[in-house]
Amino acid sequence: MTQIAAIHAPGLENIIVAETTLSHVDGQKGELILRGKAIDDIAGKQSFEEAVCHLWQGLLLPSQTNLTPAFGTARLKAFQAVEQLAPLAKELSVIDWMRLGLDSLTIDEDERTNAVELTAALAVFLTSARRLKQGQTPITPDPEAGFSKDLLFMLHGSEPDKEAIDAMDRYLVTILDHGLNASTFTARVVASTLSDMRSCLSAAIGALKGPLHGGAPGPVLDMIEDIGEPKKADRWIEQELNAGNRLMGFGHRVYRVRDPRADVLKEGLKSLTHLTDRIEKAQAIEQAALKALKRHKPDRVLDTNVEFYTAVLLDAIGFDRTLFTPLFAVGRSAGWAAHVIEQQSAGKLIRPQSRYIGPSI
Ligand code: ACO
Repeated sequence: MTQIAAIHAPGLENIIVAETTLSHVDGQKGELILRGKAIDDIAGKQSFEEAVCHLWQGLLLPSQTNLTPAFGTARLKAFQAVEQLAPLAKELSVIDWMRLGLDSLTIDEDERTNAVELTAALAVFLTSARRLKQGQTPITPDPEAGFSKDLLFMLHGSEPDKEAIDAMDRYLVTILDHGLNASTFTARVVASTLSDMRSCLSAAIGALKGPLHGGAPGPVLDMIEDIGEPKKADRWIEQELNAGNRLMGFGHRVYRVRDPRADVLKEGLKSLTHLTDRIEKAQAIEQAALKALKRHKPDRVLDTNVEFYTAVLLDAIGFDRTLFTPLFAVGRSAGWAAHVIEQQSAGKLIRPQSRYIGPSI
């Protein structure tokens, strides 16, 4: 059998398959840069729309420079699809219903318009699916409202307070883009075939929902609730690690130090003063986990990743665990869309090799 000289890298570590101007993850320094700005200089300081504008520089149509009304109009358009899909909301998970929603939309010819419309639509589908599942009526979007404010309004049906809006913006900006993570890579693979934006985003959602990627924050909350009292943390964590289980919310493929997004989200908790007790409990559990991981895996730096404080922050602003991954998809969709446009305009078909280890002829 002819063997082709190729590198065998099952997790594609240290393989560069794209050049990007969008974001850079420096795993050694613990730094995340979005188009020349550190994540700490954007998250907590800009609204989601402003941060998307920053990320999408050069990718937007002249009519899209103010994204608040563009997203608002797109939310209203997406809402028209909700009634027709409503009967399936109870059967499907929120994230699967969101994908169905994407498939049902009438799509424009221009991928930059689609980027705006699909990102906005995901917020509408998340909130509508959730309400339908609970037997509530979906709420019509307010096209004038900011993205985060309207998302919270469509979910809860009441005016959100400023702390919650700020926390939502901080979260959505923090997770906007992150190099070639598994879901972004998936979007780029599909884009590399010159497929359309909707298909790229739909495939990316499929990659995101796995527990090793965007599905981790739900189990983080399970862990915090299972442990209950911080004094029980050491024993609980020890049992998990001895059983060979992973602690969700810790470890990262690229970061060899702390994930900077964990700190950005942790910082956002400071303004939620009415929840100090719950936050302190989570921090105590985090410290116990870090100590145990150091003992169990002394050769590997396993620090807190974005998912740990995602769970704590989203729980604090009224999102239950079934909505964590769907919300991740809403924020990250703007990052995926930018990568899709970049890949479609400058990339090459992504087509790696496999090594055949089956029987010979
Ligand atoms: N808890 C316990 N042990 C861990 C953890 C963890 N959270 N993470 C890694 N390890 C251990 C592994 O068991 C392995 O040990 P071994 O060498 O003795 O077998 C070693 O560390 C290396 O693990 P890999 O899976 O090779 O590391 P990789 O870089 O592929 O994993 C990953 C990264 C998948 C995120 C991993 O750290 C993990 O499973 N974490 C928990 C899930 C999680 O929090 N996911 C969210 C990631 S952030 C995001 O995607 C948005």
